[in-house]
Amino acid sequence: MFQAELLKGKRILVTGGGSGLGQAMVRRFAALGARTVVLGRRADALAETAKLVAEDGGPEVEQVVCDIRDPKAVDAAVETLWQNGPLDGLVNNAAGNFVSRTEDLSHRAVDVVLGIVLHGTAYMTLACGKRWIAAKHRASVLNIVTTYAWTGSAYVVPSAMGKAGVLAMTRSLAVEWGPKGIRSNAIAPGPFPTPGAWKRLIPGQDAEETMKRKNPLGRFGEHHELTNLASYLMSDGSGFVNGEVVTIDGGEWLKGAGEFNFLDTLSDDDWEQMRRRRG
Ligand code: HXC
Repeated sequence: MFQAELLKGKRILVTGGGSGLGQAMVRRFAALGARTVVLGRRADALAETAKLVAEDGGPEVEQVVCDIRDPKAVDAAVETLWQNGPLDGLVNNAAGNFVSRTEDLSHRAVDVVLGIVLHGTAYMTLACGKRWIAAKHRASVLNIVTTYAWTGSAYVVPSAMGKAGVLAMTRSLAVEWGPKGIRSNAIAPGPFPTPGAWKRLIPGQDAEETMKRKNPLGRFGEHHELTNLASYLMSDGSGFVNGEVVTIDGGEWLKGAGEFNFLDTLSDDDWEQMRRRRG
């Protein structure tokens, strides 16, 4: 759906690009002509993404081993990258999450999720933003959030808190850094299966089927659908989009959040009864 060289001339870093949706975005950006950088904790995962991009016939992928929870490590990694020129885009994709009853969480469990999602995203954005502003370099930040950043959600409370903060950062920086040529946007994906997220978040086959059933489109998202949107938002074609969060969830959260959505279990007879009760 795009021109083959949509992202040519751009150098884009994806955190957590060694697996899952991050890896899918890197492969797509590279296929559209971008030079990509993957940053994450596991060297083997980063190398796997680089290998896949090479197999796709894409350009070499820069690999940076870094834990985004460590601000000094983040700044050092970004400084090293800048020695080969500036980045043009940052995708804050790395996340940490698991389902748990909130009363069962230890303070370290809270810290580990907020450390990755909220602090890590802020550290990466600061490290790049300071350099972009100093060099008057135009750039784009894309943050991967979730729909429960604004609805909240039971059983993933630290993740909801962190993603809500990232969404607030997205909108705040759109205004503060927009005049400096830096766009900030977010994507809120619904369920897009990945081994990592599914292992931590989906309790079993029944939960998977329930999630599919409660989606208005009756299915999960496909990775290329997410990477279509991410590529658009990282391209100059979306140059006037700033401070926006784009939901891509098949309509899931609207159905889950609506007050009378539970009526979807009513039968034809039930509806006839309701019709007769009027007046
Ligand atoms: C309760 C848990 C737990 C669990 C860890 N902890 N897993 N508590 N239930 N399932 C607690 C530990 O007991 C420990 O506290 C503390 O959290 C730190 O755990 P560690 O394993 O030492 O942390 P670490 O090795 O740094 O791993 C971080 C992690 C891990 C977040 C726990 O899952 C990870 O690396 N995740 C990265 C990838 C990821 O999460 N992807 C999913 C993103 S999906 P104590 O007190 O015992 O020391 C997403 C969007 C969802 O974000 C939308 C989908 C629809």
